[in-house]
Amino acid sequence: KETVHSDIVWHAHAVDRAAREALHGHKGAVLWFTGLSGSGKSTLAGACEQALRELGVSTYLLDGDNVRHGLCSDLGFSDADRQENIRRVGEVAGLMLDAGLVVLTAFISPHRHERQKVRDMLPAGRFFEVFVDTPLAVCERRDPKGLYKKARAGEITNFTGIDAVYEAPLRPEIHLDGEQLVTNLTGQMLDVLRQHVIIK
Ligand code: PPS
Repeated sequence: KETVHSDIVWHAHAVDRAAREALHGHKGAVLWFTGLSGSGKSTLAGACEQALRELGVSTYLLDGDNVRHGLCSDLGFSDADRQENIRRVGEVAGLMLDAGLVVLTAFISPHRHERQKVRDMLPAGRFFEVFVDTPLAVCERRDPKGLYKKARAGEITNFTGIDAVYEAPLRPEIHLDGEQLVTNLTGQMLDVLRQHVIIK
């Protein structure tokens, strides 16, 4: 780990990630769900967490709406604030991965560069970008929180997909068709985790 300040030096503790993973009986990983508002990120991440729990996997779900109540309650939706949001969540997810957990995150995370920065910060092979690919028209029809309607009416600005950018992943580890049944999608997720020997 690089030294960030000349007076602050990384301290390597005796109990490391491998030791913690041995206790859990599986590897740690970050499943980074990304997609438009209303694409199904939170629902899918929640269903996936439930399925993992039933297999005895230690998990934690970091959800955009929830994190914005606390850790990121000072941030809005400008590009700079979204970048800081994703930076903080990436750091927290990294700590939880170090604790040996399978971390699921559900954030729009609209910028490719910010997602790449999180990937680069984590140990190789432990970051899985999960693209919840639901067309804008479908998200807008679902509009579970009535936010698209407000954005179209100009009551909310900087709304992703309307007047703020969403950069779709180019090579996600997992590409889910957000219009499929949740159970099919969860099965696909578990298969990929088994293939990569994160879980047994
Ligand atoms: S980001 O872009 O990753 O920082 O966003 P995130 O932290 O995931 O927060 C997205 C949720 O905030 C609500 N919301 C908005 N989304 C997009 N653009 C604007 N302007 C906005 N204002 C509020 C919205 O409910 C998002 O929830 P999801 O679960 O994605 O639908």
